[in-house]
Amino acid sequence: MTTILRRLPPSEATGLRTGARHSLAQLYRPLDLVVLGLGVMIGAGIFSIAGRQAATIAGPGVILSFMIAGIASLLAALCYAELSSTMPTSGSAYTFTYVIFGEVWAWIIGCALILEMQLAVAVVARAWAGLAVQTISDFGVRLPQQDLIGDVFVFVILAVLTGVVALGARIGLRALWIMVSAKLLAIGAVIVVGVLHLDVANFGDFYVPPKPAVASAPTVLGVFLGQGHAFGWFGIFAAAPAIAFAYIGWDIIATAAEETVNAPRAVPKGMIRSLVIATVLYIAVAVVMIGMIPYTRISTDAPLSSAFKVLGVDWMVHVIDLGAVLGLTTVILVLIVGQTRVLFSMARDGLLPRGLSTVSRNYHTPSRVTLVIGALAIVLAEFVPVLTLQELVVMGALFAFLFVAAGVIVMRRRMPHLERGFTVPLSPVVPALSLVATLWLMVNLQVVTWGWFALWMVFGLLVYLLYGRRHSLLAPAPVPVKDTAGRGRHRR
Ligand code: ALA
Repeated sequence: MTTILRRLPPSEATGLRTGARHSLAQLYRPLDLVVLGLGVMIGAGIFSIAGRQAATIAGPGVILSFMIAGIASLLAALCYAELSSTMPTSGSAYTFTYVIFGEVWAWIIGCALILEMQLAVAVVARAWAGLAVQTISDFGVRLPQQDLIGDVFVFVILAVLTGVVALGARIGLRALWIMVSAKLLAIGAVIVVGVLHLDVANFGDFYVPPKPAVASAPTVLGVFLGQGHAFGWFGIFAAAPAIAFAYIGWDIIATAAEETVNAPRAVPKGMIRSLVIATVLYIAVAVVMIGMIPYTRISTDAPLSSAFKVLGVDWMVHVIDLGAVLGLTTVILVLIVGQTRVLFSMARDGLLPRGLSTVSRNYHTPSRVTLVIGALAIVLAEFVPVLTLQELVVMGALFAFLFVAAGVIVMRRRMPHLERGFTVPLSPVVPALSLVATLWLMVNLQVVTWGWFALWMVFGLLVYLLYGRRHSLLAPAPVPVKDTAGRGRHRR
């Protein structure tokens, strides 16, 4: 038991003892982190999921769902900020957990982060392909065999972005700045033009009385309380975890810590600033989306562009299409970077094959692990109906939030003297609130999501018991033993 609870010393959190082939060069400056955060957050969540939730579950109250998910994210971000200012490592929550709670819990959080990011890459790539096909047809080009073209688009976007990440962090960063600026312009246009077309009457029925839910996929809370969740207060709360998908990504800034100049100060700022900017933009977009047309007329497929179409502002359809395609491109790009860094850290600690934590001599990036991640994402996006699994992405992220919030409380007691570049105000109250808010979002997830998550974790634990436990760098050094023929061999 003690072996699986062995803890990584804080001084080793950034893998210093593992040598130059396993360390990452510093690249990011404070503003880059904000761009990274906005790059990964603003995507499918705001461009499509928000409208679907408004039309089917929350009604105009989706604005409140955005606030609820935003507050839960902010509480969690404060906790992440403290731990990443203390341990600026590419392993993020995985490494924090390794230091604070021990190896097996770290592995579990590693599995949760892999689920979050690897699945999110596939989900967003699928959504990207659908949007790209839609954009082309909105320009009047009729594509034959759209499903097949969608599959080809999925392959192309994932292959290209994997290549960009594998070939050099600088190329990716430059591309990111350009694309994030373009998508912010598109979001700005949605807000400004949307405000010009607001009809106050659309806010009249802000609170939609509860309706019987189409209970094909009940939530944990719904089963517990024995009721469905469409509209009313329960609908607003039930929509919040789906909306949390839009916020997924500020946590990925923590995985850039090892590559950030003056990380203990820059990472907390980057994380909180990008989250606050995204929250303000999201609430503004939600307000105009609800205010432009009655929520009952919001299209579940293309909520924002269809609202402008209904109002006859056709040119905005193209702005939104292009903004969304670019927006989702940056989401995939940063998710691949984040996922690479977490797997890199796990491999560097020996819990995954060490070769995955090698930095390429030519490209100065962990290109080997990047290629593995790209290939996995292609298989997932091509052969699994990932769009139905997007709640699992949120589940993975929320699970890690729990450990980070608890970690702040435990670490304050156990290692009070560690240098912290940022401290959570009012601890332990704020971390405790973060725990409650995260748990609340989790019980509003579907039962089936919990089931898939449990299965993934059982699989993960088996892999740990069969591989990671023995190969961990913290495992006792091999003891030479002699076999009966007198030949030397090693035993753990
Ligand atoms: N937050 C990202 C999105 O909405 C994952 O696409």
